[in-house]
Amino acid sequence: MTKRIAIIGAGPSGLAQLRAFQSAAEKGAEVPEVVCFEKQENWGGLWNYTWRTGLDQYGEPVHGSMYRYLWSNGPKEGLEFADYSFEEHFGKQIASYPPRAVLFDYIEGRVQKAGVRDLIRFDTAVRWVEKAGDQFNVTVCHLPDDRTYTESFDHVIVASGHFSTPNVPQFDGFETFKGRVLHAHDFRDAMEFKDKDLLIVGTSYSAEDIGSQCWKYGAKSITVSHRTAPMGFDWPDNWAEVPLLTHVDGNTAHFKDGSSRDIDAVILCTGYKHHFPFLPDELRLKTANRLATQDLYKGVTYVNEPALFYLGMQDQWFTFNMFDAQAWWVRDVILGRIEQPDTATMVADVADRIAREDAGKDDYDAIWYQGDYVKELIAETDYPSFDVEAACQVFKEWKGHKKAGIMTFRNNSYTSVITGTLAPAHHTPWKDALDDSLEVYLKN
Ligand SMILES: Cc1cc2nc3c(=O)[nH]c(=O)nc-3n(C[C@H](O)[C@H](O)[C@H](O)COP(=O)(O)OP(=O)(O)OC[C@H]3O[C@@H](n4cnc5c(N)ncnc54)[C@H](O)[C@@H]3O)c2cc1C
Ligand SMILES: NC(=O)c1ccc[n+]([C@@H]2O[C@H](COP(=O)([O-])OP(=O)(O)OC[C@H]3O[C@@H](n4cnc5c(N)ncnc54)[C@H](OP(=O)(O)O)[C@@H]3O)[C@@H](O)[C@H]2O)c1
Repeated sequence: MTKRIAIIGAGPSGLAQLRAFQSAAEKGAEVPEVVCFEKQENWGGLWNYTWRTGLDQYGEPVHGSMYRYLWSNGPKEGLEFADYSFEEHFGKQIASYPPRAVLFDYIEGRVQKAGVRDLIRFDTAVRWVEKAGDQFNVTVCHLPDDRTYTESFDHVIVASGHFSTPNVPQFDGFETFKGRVLHAHDFRDAMEFKDKDLLIVGTSYSAEDIGSQCWKYGAKSITVSHRTAPMGFDWPDNWAEVPLLTHVDGNTAHFKDGSSRDIDAVILCTGYKHHFPFLPDELRLKTANRLATQDLYKGVTYVNEPALFYLGMQDQWFTFNMFDAQAWWVRDVILGRIEQPDTATMVADVADRIAREDAGKDDYDAIWYQGDYVKELIAETDYPSFDVEAACQVFKEWKGHKKAGIMTFRNNSYTSVITGTLAPAHHTPWKDALDDSLEVYLKN
C-alpha cells in the first residue's frame, strides 16, 4: 500500500512541499499519495489577498494579513526559488522589491508549471487531527456544502503559517476611545488614514511598513510607540517615536514618559501567535516567534511525534527558499532517504539550535544563523544548491540601505544569487509609485 501524506495549507510552505514531491516523481521516484487541504478558495497563503477581515463567508477566521499596496519588505534576491528564477517566470529580470501581486504571480507560476493543483482540496478547513495507532485521522470540513469527513494518513505536514492570529494587548481607555482601534491583521487600505493622526504600537516590520504606507498615502502624522526600543530610522518630519502607551483618555494618547498626543486611530502592530486549533496538546507546537523553534528537530520534525512535521514555523529572514529547503528535507525523510535519530538526539539538536541562536548578538548574526540552517538542509537533499552566502550579503546590504533611507531603500537593486543578473532600477521611486499593479510594476 502506498503511504498517504496530508499537508495542511497551500501557502508558500505547503506549495514547496507539493513541488518537492513532484520534483522527485519527475526524476522517477515512487512518491506517496499527497493530499493538501486549503481552507481558502485559492493557493498562495498570505499572498492571496482578501478584502475580508474578521470571519469569512463561511464563518471561518480570515487568514489574510496582507494589505493593499504591500511591497516586499526585503529584496526578492533573498527569497528566489533555486529551481525557478524570476527571469524564468517573467522572461526578464525585474526590480528588487516587487509588490504583493507580482510575488503572488511568481509563487503561482512555479506550481502551475509543476502541475500540482489537482492535489489540493480547496475550501476545505482542517478541523482536527489525532493519532490512532500509527495513523493520523484528519477531520476536515468542505465549507461550501458544510460536509465534514475524516481520512487517515501516515504523515501530517503542518504548513498553516503563523502570521494570522493576532496578539492583541489591552490598553486602558480603548473601550471609550472615539476613533478606530485595529490590529495589523485587519489593516487593508492606507487611504482610510489619509489626513489622520495615527498611533502605531510596536516596532517591528508591521509597524515600520504600515506606518510607511500610511505616510505614503497621506496620513497627517504617524506616532510609533515602543515597548523595548525605538526603531531609530531617519523618519520624515511628521513621524515621531515615543515610549510605550500607558492609556487613552478621550482622543488623547498618554505615554510612559508623561507626554501625550491627540490621535484619530490606533493600529496595534504587536505581532502574531502560533495557533493550531486543529491539534490536540500532544501534537501541538508551542513556541515563541524565533529562529530556533521549540520542539522541532532540524526545525521541522516534531520531536514528540516524529511522523508529524511543521514547515515555516520560524521567524523569517529567509522565506521561500527556506521553506523549499525544509520541504525537500521532509520529503526525503518520508521517502526513506534520510533517517531520523532517536528522541534524545532530536531533543539535544533542538537545545543546541536554541543555544546557538541565543549566543547571537545582533541581526547580522541572526541572518547568518538562518543562512547556515538553509545550507545545512539543502546539503542533505537534491534541492538545487545556490549561493546562500551571497543571499546573506544581500540581506546585509538591504539593512544598510534601510539605515541610509527608510523611505528610499526600495529604490535599490541587487544581483540574483540564482542567475547572477543585476536587477534593473524600478522606473518610479517607491514613495511616488502609488499604483502597485503587476502591469505597472513590470513596465521596466
Ligand atoms: C503582512 C505580512 C507581510 C509579509 N511580507 C513578506 C515579504 O515581503 N517577503 C517575504 O518573504 N515574506 C513576507 N511575509 C512572511 C510570510 O510569512 C511568508 O512570505 C509566507 O507567506 C509564509 O508561508 P506559509 O505557507 O508558511 O504560511 P501562509 O502564507 O500563512 O499560508 C498558510 C496557509 O494555510 C492555510 N490554512 C491555515 N489554517 C488552515 C486549516 N485549518 N485548514 C486548511 N488550511 C489552513 C491558510 O489559508 C494559508 O493558505 C509577510 C508576512 C506578513 C504577515
Ligand atoms: N511589506 C512587508 O513585507 C511586511 C509588512 C509587514 C509585516 N511583514 C512580515 O510580517 C511578519 C510579522 O511582523 P510583525 O511586525 O507583525 O510582528 P513581530 O515581528 O513579531 O513584532 C511584534 C512587535 O510587537 C511588539 N509587541 C508585542 N507585544 C506588545 C505589547 N504588549 N506592547 C507593545 N508592543 C508589543 C514587539 O515589541 P518588542 O520588541 O518590545 O517585543 C514587536 O515590536 C514578519 O515576518 C514581517 O517580515 C512584512
